[in-house]
Amino acid sequence: VRERTLVAIKPDGVQRRLIGQVIKRFEQRGFQLVGLKMLQVSEELLSQHYASLHRKPFYPSLLRYMTSGPVVAMVWEGHNVVKSTRLLVGNTNPAEADPGTLRGDFSIHISRNIVHASDSPEVAQKEISLWFQRSELIDWECCD
Ligand code: CMP
Repeated sequence: VRERTLVAIKPDGVQRRLIGQVIKRFEQRGFQLVGLKMLQVSEELLSQHYASLHRKPFYPSLLRYMTSGPVVAMVWEGHNVVKSTRLLVGNTNPAEADPGTLRGDFSIHISRNIVHASDSPEVAQKEISLWFQRSELIDWECCD
């Protein structure tokens, strides 16, 4: 199934100069980039994005972290891209993430885990429409 997913390089990933490394992994896998922007994320967007986490004890520090610098938001398209992205990114907790995954290779702590990726096709659709305008997503001819 051809799908789209939201991937966001979090402030720690941007500050640590990992943008290129993240994009490289998606490109070398063969996924297609259909949206890309750098932004300072608003608390309002985060509040919607993390609606299910408002009551978690770590929510205030999550907000501080996610607003501590710019984020690079991307939409990747391709066959089963949602599941493949979760595997490329690795477990939410970097201590549990396999070597070879982005988190397994570049992070050690759950509160600084480099990237966000949508966890299901339904969530991906919601997140993409929250983070991107339709006009910011490009339909371009690709490969399969
Ligand atoms: P992500 O899965 O992208 O979205 C929810 C985020 O909350 C998660 O990444 C972590 O950055 C953060 N998070 C989840 N659990 C914890 C935790 N126990 N302590 C701190 N941050 C957490």
